[in-house]
Amino acid sequence: MYDRNLALEAVRVTEAAAIACLKLVGRGDKMAADGAATDALRDALNRMDIRGTVVIGEGEMDEAPMLYIGEEVGTGNGPEVDIALDPLEGTTPCADGMDDSTSVIAFAEKGKFLNAPDIYMEKIAVGGGLPAGVISLAKTPKENIIAVAKAKGVSTSEITLCTLKRDRHQYIVDDARSLGARIKFIENGDVGGVLSTALVDSPVDIYIGKGGAPEGVIGAAALVCLGGQMEAKLTPEDDAEIARCHRWDITDLEKIYTLDELASGDVMFCATGITDGPMAKGVYIKGDRIVTETLMMRSKTGTMRRIHAEHNLDRKDWVKA
Ligand code: FBP
Repeated sequence: MYDRNLALEAVRVTEAAAIACLKLVGRGDKMAADGAATDALRDALNRMDIRGTVVIGEGEMDEAPMLYIGEEVGTGNGPEVDIALDPLEGTTPCADGMDDSTSVIAFAEKGKFLNAPDIYMEKIAVGGGLPAGVISLAKTPKENIIAVAKAKGVSTSEITLCTLKRDRHQYIVDDARSLGARIKFIENGDVGGVLSTALVDSPVDIYIGKGGAPEGVIGAAALVCLGGQMEAKLTPEDDAEIARCHRWDITDLEKIYTLDELASGDVMFCATGITDGPMAKGVYIKGDRIVTETLMMRSKTGTMRRIHAEHNLDRKDWVKA
């Protein structure tokens, strides 16, 4: 669907957001960092030759001033695409100068992303090369770890499980510990957690945990590019959240979504590091250069690139030129 060169344009979009965030890393102001990333990402996105619609964004029209769900972006020329984005995935680690904040964007043909409200979602994921159906949210973490170990032909003590370090995940931790599996805790950023199951430079075999539904769809988009399996289930916590699901035409609240139902088709994904994480190193400044690293993937080829870029501070128009 896309001109291959569009992929490089997409890299510029998340690069711009990461660069805009750089001055705010570790300064304790989440709102300012999110605002800077959103402004910069939107500005760069509107230079892309696409007819884009934001389907996973900064919020609903009445709650987000920009990059709201339904917002049309791009120059209005080029392919018609749906977009799932998070200009600053990991607002807290960015403000606290900790690892795992990233700017992420994914593109797909119309209708290929699950349109999900911003509530929690249970997620389980593994990378490629395993038999179909090896993981299931209908099974316990223990059963899933055993199944993955068996499929990989290793003992459960050789399995590394990734999860967000949260009290609500104690049952996952207990199951993993009872099997002697390793746990890689992350404080934030479960898009990276999900994708780490498929990255060759990560030891993670399986991701399990509850996090944001928008991040679930973006994580699925990333996993589609490299191959893998994922399941997810929305977990509305009160009547207001149930009502929000209904507004998205989601009535079966017990439904377990497969990877294909979360994201599918011709997907293009980019993530630029703001602080260091599994997807990319964080942005930094050295002399007259701002250095970025961006992970770029397309589902069509399954190629994963990490693009190191040095942006010359003396030529201030590099974002727009
Ligand atoms: P934000 O960018 O909204 O801060 O999300 C960061 C994040 O770690 C996500 O990656 C994850 O899905 C979610 O928060 C987990 O939520 P919580 O911090 O409430 O457990």
